[in-house]
Amino acid sequence: MARITASVYTSHIPAVGAAFDHGKTGEDYWKPVFAGYDKSKEWLKANKPDVIICVYNDHATAFSLSMIPTFAIMTGPEYNPADEGYGARPVPKVIGHPELASHIASEVIQQDFDLTMVNEIDVDHGLTVPLSCLFGEVKEWPCPIIPFAVNVVQHPVPSGERCFRLGQAIRRAVTSYPEDLNVHIWGTGGMSHQLQGSRAGLINREWDNMFLDKLIDAPKDLAKMPNIDYVREAGSEGIELVMWHIARGAMSDINDGGKLKVVHRFYHVPASNTAVGHLVLQDAA
Ligand code: DHB
Ligand code: FE
Repeated sequence: MARITASVYTSHIPAVGAAFDHGKTGEDYWKPVFAGYDKSKEWLKANKPDVIICVYNDHATAFSLSMIPTFAIMTGPEYNPADEGYGARPVPKVIGHPELASHIASEVIQQDFDLTMVNEIDVDHGLTVPLSCLFGEVKEWPCPIIPFAVNVVQHPVPSGERCFRLGQAIRRAVTSYPEDLNVHIWGTGGMSHQLQGSRAGLINREWDNMFLDKLIDAPKDLAKMPNIDYVREAGSEGIELVMWHIARGAMSDINDGGKLKVVHRFYHVPASNTAVGHLVLQDAA
């Protein structure tokens, strides 16, 4: 059967993608940001997933005010990087996994989560920047990826608790897929950042580190935090962090009494206007 064995969490900052695409990863400003992923890149080579479920948000690139799905699973065969106003990033197209994605859609909808199924979509920095950070420059991504979009752009945004329970439902769905597959689930976005208004540039290092501590050790309590607290403490775009609860809720310690190990934890400010957070959690075999 298929199994979720690890979860990866990371910010998805467009300027990091631009630094990567323009060969600036060795510059003084960017070096510490990219170095924060070195350990995880090595770990991914040794713990290669067969499929990644990548939870991200579209930033009004493919979706817009004309259509706002709360949760959307991409069930199609492939997805191109989006043109976000300055051309599409020069990164490989994303190959999907229609069979597993359709199975997850079927099983999760039967567990009363209303997922939108999307077969054709271009994917923006929310998805492609984490791939570059964790796989570097490659001709093709090393495995199929199932993009899973969450609305964190337009109120109302789903609660952390609902996201956590959705992660549990995704785990059950994956576990009932008959093929032996090593599946990783990624949560992207965050950490504290506000891109607009009088508090633009807000970064809250203490709160971000509290979030990382509790995501590791007290994830159920953390998921109960109301959405308004993210906005107050981590800025208007800090609400992206609710997506991390989907990945956390899908881990074995939550569902099957397994033990977790922290493979890597990284925090750095600033990158562009944003705090960079990154965490890798894996089943302690
Ligand atoms: C920026 C945009 C994002 O979507 C994000 O998550 C972080 C930063 C930006 O435009 O700087
Ligand atoms: Fe974002």
